[in-house]
Amino acid sequence: MTRLTTAYYHPFQATITSKRTHGSIRNTIGIALNEPLHICSERYEDHRLYIDDKPRSAYAQLPVIYFVTPTYPRREQIPELIRLAYTLLHVPRLHWLVANDREGCDNFLDMQLNGFGIPYTHMASPMPREYRKVKPAPRGVANRRAALQWLHQHNLTNGILYFGDDDNTYDLRLFSEIRQTQRVSMFPVGLIAEYAISGPVVRDGKVVAFLDSWVAGRRWPVDMAGFAVSLSYMSQYPNVNMPYKPGYEEDLFLRSIGLRIEQIEPRGKNCTEILVWHTQTKNKKSAVVRLENRFMDERSNLGALFRLLERMGVARASDTEGLLATISKNGKSKTHSYFLN
Ligand code: UGA
Ligand code: MN
Repeated sequence: MTRLTTAYYHPFQATITSKRTHGSIRNTIGIALNEPLHICSERYEDHRLYIDDKPRSAYAQLPVIYFVTPTYPRREQIPELIRLAYTLLHVPRLHWLVANDREGCDNFLDMQLNGFGIPYTHMASPMPREYRKVKPAPRGVANRRAALQWLHQHNLTNGILYFGDDDNTYDLRLFSEIRQTQRVSMFPVGLIAEYAISGPVVRDGKVVAFLDSWVAGRRWPVDMAGFAVSLSYMSQYPNVNMPYKPGYEEDLFLRSIGLRIEQIEPRGKNCTEILVWHTQTKNKKSAVVRLENRFMDERSNLGALFRLLERMGVARASDTEGLLATISKNGKSKTHSYFLN
């Protein structure tokens, strides 16, 4: 979740509760899940022959993990998803719900997801416009709401739900741990905020409290990556919700499924292991490189390379804008036409 200092959070609270112009935001904070679904592409068959040295059929009895990944267009998006995909490729019986925070479908992402062979659903789930202006914005909420709606529409009462952001680091043992979830599993998340850790305090095999530097009145002061929920449990709660309330998404989601502390199943050797890390990737604006259009043809690799980068949202070549591309040989840069003509 977003760590907000109390001082930072309160002005935001004031904005959403006092300004009439933000009435629509206030009204939608707690609105029931009823998201329009925009499915871009999906696949239910698993195209992997072997997973972890065993044929796929060896895993047929395992409950499916629904791994929900909110993601959004920025230059790091495709590399983040590739890295995550190569983790998930090791995980049997997994359906990857990739919910992209943009209006339309990204065909490049369709192609990528299709290529991995993991069963997946790719949807477009843009953050409603009114929230984009709010600081801090409710990141990944529209996406997770869409995924919850998808699970609801499929009447799934079997399997396990996990919210796995696109930039975290997942230990493969996490997946075997959460697969056993009866109701709600919890476990520590590394690299969260001031303590570099957030998670349950466990005594005699029971969760008795929480260690997290940002409490702010939260009954469940845990990170989004710090819990998993069984769908047989969740399906008993028709009011499951994740409101657009930055910092409180986890807490309000877990409240919406009626969680009680004694029900929590501590995982990872009674929460002594760290199986997921809240790594963060530096975020930069996509690059513009000045490289004349007339050289973006088959005479060199550069045309194809920059067309690919543009589809990935990483960089683009321009005739007129951006940093002039330096092309060199033997330590000496020359004009573009010297190499490309
Ligand atoms: C922390 C928590 O780990 C997230 O689970 C929580 O959603 C987030 O705070 C929050 O409450 O804002 P953090 O690393 O601070 O995560 O946030 P990001 O990784 O930037 O965003 C969380 C997820 O939402 C990511 O998967 C990201 O791809 C996605 N996101 C982010 C969007 O879909 N749209 C955005 O505009 C920004
Ligand atoms: Mn993150």
